[in-house]
Amino acid sequence: DWDAARAAAIIAAHRHREGATLPILHALQDAFGHVPQEAVPLIAEALNLSRAEVHGCLSFYHDFRREPAGRHVVKLCRAEACQAVGADALHAALRAAYGVDWHGTTADGQVTLEPVFCLGLCANGPAALVDGEPVARLDAARLAARLAAA
Ligand code: FES
Repeated sequence: DWDAARAAAIIAAHRHREGATLPILHALQDAFGHVPQEAVPLIAEALNLSRAEVHGCLSFYHDFRREPAGRHVVKLCRAEACQAVGADALHAALRAAYGVDWHGTTADGQVTLEPVFCLGLCANGPAALVDGEPVARLDAARLAARLAAA
């Protein structure tokens, strides 16, 4: 939940660093799970930037979430070796099954789909991180079973 005092403390801790915007956004996301909208004016004021500049940074880097993630986060590898064994088809299947594209969260808040680039499981693709756990040879049915069991 949004906590203005906590956000202000995080911003204060990083504001004197060079290029403070990115470390602040990362620290806020670590603390809140996303970068709450309410933090933008606080950051702008602390760094003497416009709100539009902070927004620009936030939307330029896809690592930052502006909404809370779903209950499950699926990071699907998009790098070459996984593509060669069907990562694109798996992405299409997940898009159809869950109705979300990259960085999207299902309407019921259950699943967020994100891209990732190589998880070191290249010989066993398509690979993914499902709630932070590496999974090899993923397909849509295995993912559905895994999410249902979690
Ligand atoms: Fe997907 Fe390396 S290319 S894990």
